Amino acid sequence: MQLMQHKICMVTGATSGMGKATAAALAQLGATVILVARDQRKGEVVRDEIRTQSGNPQVDVLYADLASQQAIRDLAATFKQRYQHLHVLVNNAGGLFFRRETTVDGLEMTFAVDHLAYFLLTNLLLDVLTASVPARIINVSSNAERIGKIAFDDLQRKRRYSAFPAYAQAKLGNLLFTYELARRLAGTGVTVNAVTPGPVATSFGSGGRGLRKIVPLVFRVIGIRAEEGAQTAIDLASSPALEGVTGKVFYHSKELQSSPQSRDVALQQRLWQVSETLTGLPVTTAQQL
Ligand SMILES: NC(=O)c1ccc[n+]([C@@H]2O[C@H](COP(=O)([O-])OP(=O)(O)OC[C@H]3O[C@@H](n4cnc5c(N)ncnc54)[C@H](OP(=O)(O)O)[C@@H]3O)[C@@H](O)[C@H]2O)c1
Repeated sequence: MQLMQHKICMVTGATSGMGKATAAALAQLGATVILVARDQRKGEVVRDEIRTQSGNPQVDVLYADLASQQAIRDLAATFKQRYQHLHVLVNNAGGLFFRRETTVDGLEMTFAVDHLAYFLLTNLLLDVLTASVPARIINVSSNAERIGKIAFDDLQRKRRYSAFPAYAQAKLGNLLFTYELARRLAGTGVTVNAVTPGPVATSFGSGGRGLRKIVPLVFRVIGIRAEEGAQTAIDLASSPALEGVTGKVFYHSKELQSSPQSRDVALQQRLWQVSETLTGLPVTTAQQL
């Protein structure tokens, strides 16, 4: 029997880079894989490619622009109509935005896609994850968290916007969320861990103009291949040795000590509360489980 047979896995940002590589590897291991994509054509192409290469027909695609909270709610609802279980959720979709953009919800794009989407989607799927134990959540963060600052007085970066600080704030948010969620889920059989992949040669950082065009080129030169960058998330999703491991951060499949600020419990709780307010989630979602 294949390692992930009978497991249902959802991967966001599955149309490119590490998300695509993670989804392909899980399909190869026999899992049913739900790709989350925002573009229908891309989603279908990647779904067909993974089906063909893995020989696994159990690859599905669901659509959501994760910059929209309504789209995230619809995604969770559609998933629950089609599937009764979810064993692995990989929150991976993210990006770097060179200019300040706002979402349909009026939120700054980096904070919305790279942090709040992880927070909202996970909370909306916690019931189906807890009904599927053992289940695993993997949050793809970044070493940029080390220079991150949660600017509670200007979370939406209205006063001064710069791409890297906004990105670092959101990626620190991923770790604060991971630690707080692990505490809330202790003893439930649902584990949550994070990955900081290091530089990986993907589409990350593309979309800039002028001199900023150099950013993806730098990642292509210094970065490892997407398949290598995805390996830690794949291990966290599938390795029997990691069963029950929770509340940890991994780099190149080894546990990593994340920044002191990411481990600050008061900060974790404060961001959780603010994230609940910004996503309109009921205060007790994770605690009720
Ligand atoms: N590459 C690195 O060096 C590096 C380092 C540390 C951490 N990371 C993190 O790794 C994760 C994956 O990035 P990657 O390097 O694989 O980059 P990538 O190749 O650019 O892939 C990003 C994925 O996210 C999706 N996405 C972006 N915005 C979305 C939205 N609003 N709604 C739905 N999907 C959206 C993209 O969809 P489309 O295909 O439609 O664009 C794509 O599938 C990100 O969280 C990133 O922050 C990357």
